[in-house]
Amino acid sequence: MAVLTGLLALAAALPAALAAPRLEARQSISALGTTTIESFKPYTFYASTAYCQPSATLTWTCGANCQANPSFEPIASGGDGDATQFWYVGYDPSLKTVTIAHQGTDTSEFLADLTDVDISMTTLDSSLFPGVSSSVEAHEGFANEQAKTATQILSAVQTGISKFGATKVTTVGHSLGAALSLLDAVYLPLHIKGVSFQTVLYGLPRVGNQAFADYVDAHVSAFTRINNKEDPIPIVPGRFLGFHHPSGEVHITDANVWEACPGQDNTSTLCIVGDVPNIFDGDESDHDGPYDGVEMGC
Ligand SMILES: *[C@@H]1O[C@H](CO)[C@@H](O)[C@H](O)[C@H]1NC(C)=O
Repeated sequence: MAVLTGLLALAAALPAALAAPRLEARQSISALGTTTIESFKPYTFYASTAYCQPSATLTWTCGANCQANPSFEPIASGGDGDATQFWYVGYDPSLKTVTIAHQGTDTSEFLADLTDVDISMTTLDSSLFPGVSSSVEAHEGFANEQAKTATQILSAVQTGISKFGATKVTTVGHSLGAALSLLDAVYLPLHIKGVSFQTVLYGLPRVGNQAFADYVDAHVSAFTRINNKEDPIPIVPGRFLGFHHPSGEVHITDANVWEACPGQDNTSTLCIVGDVPNIFDGDESDHDGPYDGVEMGC
């Protein structure tokens, strides 16, 4: 009788299960045009600039990375590149946006850290993230690191908004810097109202659980995460550990086509999860780029 009940329940559930993927399939994977790809270029340089010393970003004298966005007005810089990743905040008058960036890290060490099965997740600090459900969890190391610079960055962003009359705030980053900037992209709108936000991340690892990914999809606007070829970092920490990506993926294929991949962790072979099914299929040298000609690093 129990078996029969089970079968009947399964039969009843089938039409619903079949209907769902068909609806999603309407949003197909599509290649970005040249103009869209080029529009990412300033943000790619901003993410790369985060690898430069704070003394150089504060005076905007970091060489080619700084010269790529020549009109930038720095507001604050910090970090020591060791206990705390470098970061900076400033205003771009041509893009009319306050920009925040965090430094990334060494690819091999980062991959080793993120494939450790003892990785733990934590709820977000309720004073930094008021009102965010306790079901939302993030990588503990990322959360602790973001907490170190959160209030300094918030005050620099508020300075940028009042000093330059900015109505837009952009968060960028590569690698570990992408993870920290994603947490900033969740954090800042909880404390700043009346401006629009956008987020452009490169080589982003998974940052939190399914509830975190859903929170990002619902609350982090204009969000893009760009993955290069066979970079293994975006596929760690593994989904089997409970980690999950938000939507917003753009995957640069071997043919240098920028594919916009709908959904969270899209398993199509045009997207990173399908193209790099495990880290042994990955190529660490793809992590730093090039992203439309830009290699990350100062
Ligand atoms: C991946 O994208 C395709 C669109 O071509 C879509 O049908 C599918 O549902 C997506 N998969 C996921 C897991 O989001």
